[in-house]
Amino acid sequence: MVDLGSGAGKICYILSQKVGPAGQVIGVDFNDEMLRLARKYLSEMRRKLGYGNVRFVKAKIQDLALDLERAEAWLQKHPIRSVEQLGDFEAECERLRQQEPLIPDASVDVVVSNCVLNLVRPQDKHKLFAEIFRVLKRGGRAVISDIVCDEDPTPSILADPELWSGCIAGAFREDRFLEMFEEAGFHGIEILSRQDEPWQVIEGIEFRSITVRAFKGKQGPCLERHQAVIYKGPWKFVRDDDGHTLYRGQRMAVCDKTFKILTDPSGPYSRDIIAVPPYEEIPLDQAAPFDCKRTGTRSPRETKGLDYRATMVNDGAACVCGPDGC
Ligand SMILES: C[S@@+](CC[C@H](N)C(=O)[O-])C[C@H]1O[C@@H](n2cnc3c(N)ncnc32)[C@H](O)[C@@H]1O
Repeated sequence: MVDLGSGAGKICYILSQKVGPAGQVIGVDFNDEMLRLARKYLSEMRRKLGYGNVRFVKAKIQDLALDLERAEAWLQKHPIRSVEQLGDFEAECERLRQQEPLIPDASVDVVVSNCVLNLVRPQDKHKLFAEIFRVLKRGGRAVISDIVCDEDPTPSILADPELWSGCIAGAFREDRFLEMFEEAGFHGIEILSRQDEPWQVIEGIEFRSITVRAFKGKQGPCLERHQAVIYKGPWKFVRDDDGHTLYRGQRMAVCDKTFKILTDPSGPYSRDIIAVPPYEEIPLDQAAPFDCKRTGTRSPRETKGLDYRATMVNDGAACVCGPDGC
């Protein structure tokens, strides 16, 4: 797991116990003082837990490939006194990102963060979401708690440096916060909690904390393996982040990838979905492409196979009905 903007390290030490000795926790922060404070407790926590699975690294959360301690060590040996030397430093940073990434692509199961994303400069916020997406494994998830506002901050709020460091001026407008996950390629995006009462109100704009969870893994080819799903309701229909519309009670034809996403017990959708797998499985290497743009139902005959002619009788046992059903 990775904690973005780990500060004094409290969340990492809690996660350390959650993931256990076989897991790993990385706290990311760019502030030396906070890193020192968080690292101060490493040996004490290792002793108390009986294992050490936490490390704190120095990086900008919008640039998780660049190890800033490595970059600083290079700077010690190669101080910059000219634009040309600045170019050399930038080239070294790029080399580090490419050849020795601090957090490699698809290496993390869960990214968490509490009250940090709003502190990133507006022009870096898209890069930040792209980085969260990059480091997560397929099937991984981000669980992010941050400050959001119900209306755009006014120019006077945006011009106040105190409100920037106070997690106010950089707050996401709440609808935009969810859209940022969508634009980065996440699916199953969900508000897990939202403070009822605002944390602060400034010039009539309400600021509150919200926790959002989003999953990675909807990318990839669509293959026909005769799978279907039934959406249980209660809505008449729903649409996922890939544009599939599922009508309540209908056996909707889906591709293999969508079937797996919608029915995965640890994913966001399975509680609302009934899986309808085919009676005879189509091997993956024989599956044809599936056109995910279409929204269609799957005939029960396709699920069971055209030659299915079974007859099953209930031994003549009478159907007995009581208050709990039949
Ligand atoms: C409000 S504190 C939150 C600390 C911690 N998440 C918690 O809940 O206790 C914000 C932390 O994020 C760090 N931070 C802010 N912007 C950052 C960035 N762009 N990259 C890395 N760390 C950042 C700060 O140094 C600080 O430690």
